[in-house]
Amino acid sequence: DWSPESFVDATVRELREKLGDDKVVLGLSGGVDSSVAAILLHRAIGKNLYCIFVDTGLLRKNEFTDVLASYRHMGLNVKGVQAGEKFLGDLRGVTDPEAKRKIIGRDFIEVFNAEAKAIENVQWLAQGTIYPDVIESMSVNGPSATIKSHHNVGGLPEEMHLRIVEPLRLLFKDEVRRVGRTLGIDPLILERHPFPGPGLGIRILGEVTPERVAVLQEADRIYMDALKEWGLYDKVWQAGTILLPVKSVGVMGDERTYESCVALRAVTSTDGMTADWVHLPYDFLARVSNDIINRVRGINRVVYDISSKPPATIEWE
Ligand code: XMP
Repeated sequence: DWSPESFVDATVRELREKLGDDKVVLGLSGGVDSSVAAILLHRAIGKNLYCIFVDTGLLRKNEFTDVLASYRHMGLNVKGVQAGEKFLGDLRGVTDPEAKRKIIGRDFIEVFNAEAKAIENVQWLAQGTIYPDVIESMSVNGPSATIKSHHNVGGLPEEMHLRIVEPLRLLFKDEVRRVGRTLGIDPLILERHPFPGPGLGIRILGEVTPERVAVLQEADRIYMDALKEWGLYDKVWQAGTILLPVKSVGVMGDERTYESCVALRAVTSTDGMTADWVHLPYDFLARVSNDIINRVRGINRVVYDISSKPPATIEWE
């Protein structure tokens, strides 16, 4: 019979046997899977697990600092790498969604590789791959081949000869969360909404500039905080804020403004393949809209996305 406790016991034992005194490198994303994989490995091999957490400059507001602190708090040996300038520099002038994904994926691999190479005698690459990822990677040429492309650390230099270890390979998402709870991982990490690897880069329609990232981070922060305050965060499978490539006219006092617009998105789903937009309360939407327009400079209009998937995807890009 499967139970999270027996899974943890058996896996920790197996990992110890398999890895011995070897060193293992793992990329943390802030998400559930990589966090649970890291804590399991940490139980098994302690300081021989080297974690790398890359700030792409496209994370949510304060995410890098907060998540890094909570990883350290859990005792992980984690290196935070601030690479935002590289990503934003390479994204300059790029507006095509797939081109953005490619650049972000390539930069991620470059940054990760450089860090992995700096670990002397590292022999293993650990990944938070779960069962649905395994299935997905077996389907040839599905749209997900591009969707998750950046997750593939397949670009690791050959000369490193890293062997792969994937302790969550046979688990479904809910099992991963149960294992995480058994391991005592902060519920705030375990209950987090999914967040795409390319991050805010694909929630900024049009060019990704540092200024536009900052504007979106502010608006998104207000929306996320309000979802939590109103007890709605856990009722939603995924929520996000999208900065649109349009400006519209507004008034402020006697002044005419001509500023940006954000769209709010919230969906329910089980696996992200299909999704329904959430009927968030009007009072809630009114509050968030007011707060964003009053507090975020550069935004004078907020809209709510009432499209379900299919045909509308969850992300706008
Ligand atoms: P869509 O927009 O295809 O999204 O309905 C389905 C789920 O996948 C996430 N998503 C991504 N995740 N890299 C990722 O790691 C990507 O390029 C990417 N694009 C979409 C999306 O956030 C949703 O959970």
